[in-house]
Amino acid sequence: MPSFLRPATALLALTIAGSAAATAVPHSLRQAVHDGAALFASGRFGSTRTYTPLNGFDRHALTCQACHSDGGIGPGQTPAGVALPSLEGAAAGYPKLRAGRVVTLEQQIGHCIAAGIGGQPPRADSAAMTDLVAYLSALSRGRAFATQLPAP
Ligand code: HEC
Repeated sequence: MPSFLRPATALLALTIAGSAAATAVPHSLRQAVHDGAALFASGRFGSTRTYTPLNGFDRHALTCQACHSDGGIGPGQTPAGVALPSLEGAAAGYPKLRAGRVVTLEQQIGHCIAAGIGGQPPRADSAAMTDLVAYLSALSRGRAFATQLPAP
């Protein structure tokens, strides 16, 4: 190749690589959703609580998954048998009003960890909370956002 063409070829290659990178989901975002899903299924947050599923015999560790079935996608059920709606689209509704208080998604997750799992909620700036928020937000991908809030 004539040497005067080389810079142009290099620039073209850079442009193509750049546009591919712009459309591909960065690895760190994928990783956060992946790690959040793993935490959802197995995270115990220090709790030693266990439960026996309604249609089972063996005791299992209490995790998010214990109440919110199929990674939160299916309809859920508490160990006491209270029906819970799917978490698909749930994150998009936050901040929302719960028992008269404005609650963020992180606060709701913290509440479920403290009251549901009986564990210690991770700090808001921790990797665990970031990953759980990423996973739950991915279950709301493309949904209408903050639907309860008025326009500012
Ligand atoms: C012992 C059962 C139980 C466990 C375990 C549990 N939750 Fe929940 N979750 C509930 C109940 C009950 C609600 C309904 C609202 C409430 O009472 O807080 C709920 C509501 C939610 C909501 C709000 C849904 C909405 O439509 O606003 C989110 C988000 C959520 N849970 C996430 C989680 C995550 C993440 C975990 C694990 C860290 C978890 N939950 C573990 C019982 C549980």
